[in-house]
Amino acid sequence: MAKTLVKEVAENLYLLRLDDDEIKYFEALWHIPEGITYNAYLYLGPNTRILFDTWKIGFSSLFIETLRSLVEPKDIDAIIVHHMEPDHSGALKSLVELNPDIKVFGHPLVKNMIESFYGIKNIAFRPVRDLEEINIEDIKLKFIYTPWLHWPETIMSYLYSTKTLFTGDVFGAFSIPSSVFGEELTRDYINFMRKYFVDVIGYYRQHVEKNIQKILGLGLDIELVAPLHGALWKDIGRIAEYYIKWGRGEGVENKVTVIYSSMYGFVEKAIQFVIELLQSHNVDVAVYKITDNYRSEISDILSDAIDSSAIVLGAATYEAGVFPYMEFVINQLAKKANSPKPVIIISSYGWGGVAGKFISNILSKTKFKVLRIIEYKGMLTESTLKDIRSAVNELLKHVKT
Ligand SMILES: Cc1cc2nc3c(=O)[nH]c(=O)nc-3n(C[C@H](O)[C@H](O)[C@H](O)COP(=O)(O)O)c2cc1C
Ligand SMILES: [Fe+2]
Ligand SMILES: [Fe+2]
Repeated sequence: MAKTLVKEVAENLYLLRLDDDEIKYFEALWHIPEGITYNAYLYLGPNTRILFDTWKIGFSSLFIETLRSLVEPKDIDAIIVHHMEPDHSGALKSLVELNPDIKVFGHPLVKNMIESFYGIKNIAFRPVRDLEEINIEDIKLKFIYTPWLHWPETIMSYLYSTKTLFTGDVFGAFSIPSSVFGEELTRDYINFMRKYFVDVIGYYRQHVEKNIQKILGLGLDIELVAPLHGALWKDIGRIAEYYIKWGRGEGVENKVTVIYSSMYGFVEKAIQFVIELLQSHNVDVAVYKITDNYRSEISDILSDAIDSSAIVLGAATYEAGVFPYMEFVINQLAKKANSPKPVIIISSYGWGGVAGKFISNILSKTKFKVLRIIEYKGMLTESTLKDIRSAVNELLKHVKT
């Protein structure tokens, strides 16, 4: 069952966290058995009360109830809307009903979105400009546009009194972290952060580095980073470095991700040979498969793909194309993990091979570099094994072993 957590994370600044362990597919797509949190924040100063975002749609009553443990909703002066996706704007309607005069600050696009998403009209909306500083009573905030991380209206804000940067979805993560602060968590948490990054922000990776540099270049004294999912961070440096690395698609030097489908085991035999060869060279191999008894999840596939320095794809020809689930996976790779990495394609067919060319056509429109296509009829032969060995040797030139 979803649980709530309320904690003072800086002087007068409260985290209101909803731990959602019941969700199965975030955005109806990303398999997250690890769950997710929705973070809202409340500043309760002696004179001023400011709310930063809300929770997911469907949790409005719980949000208002949790808010009430700290303040009456009608006494809140303002709400900052960093992002309109309904995992954060979901309680806006209830809030405005209880506090029709609340000042709403956000990107100019927000006003219309609030109206069209929730039918809320006549709100006291104040659009913010990029890099604008605004005083709400005695509290000073700076607003920073961070377009396409990952929607057009996404912004960040900086609260001077607590030296806190509210980063929206940026620096968020899947999972329900056992500690409120990222510095106290293990490497596993970084993996959930990477998975979130690729799945949710991956398509807009070209906007990541310039937005991060923009924020770092402002010279703000940031003591706390407060994202809308997962843990908070005290040091922005380390997470900014991860974002720049993932944004560029720079993978771990000795890691290869192997993704394949196999209906009857023909492709699988070749892939097993590839894995053995790679492992014999001490390569760290992440394997994902789609077979008659197992289906890897796209959410995890993309995360390891971005973290690798090369990719191996295996799939049979299927109805004059490629095995459908792999077509979906490859299209998502092309969109969200598109980076200059070498790829080997391995494919088997019954009467006329199509899949190899089909896959390389998709990848030809990306930064991926197809090194070899190995396509064979039915079962593996000595000559195919030889071709595979040679292709793997070629791939190894791009991998640090
Ligand atoms: C539903 C289905 C559709 C197929 N379509 C084609 C096809 O269009 N052309 C072809 O040459 N082989 C086709 N095949 C044969 C497979 O490509 C071939 O058996 C391959 O070796 C299977 O590899 P796998 O068991 O690793 O998936 C099809 C097989 C199935 C089950
Ligand atoms: Fe979002
Ligand atoms: Fe979100």
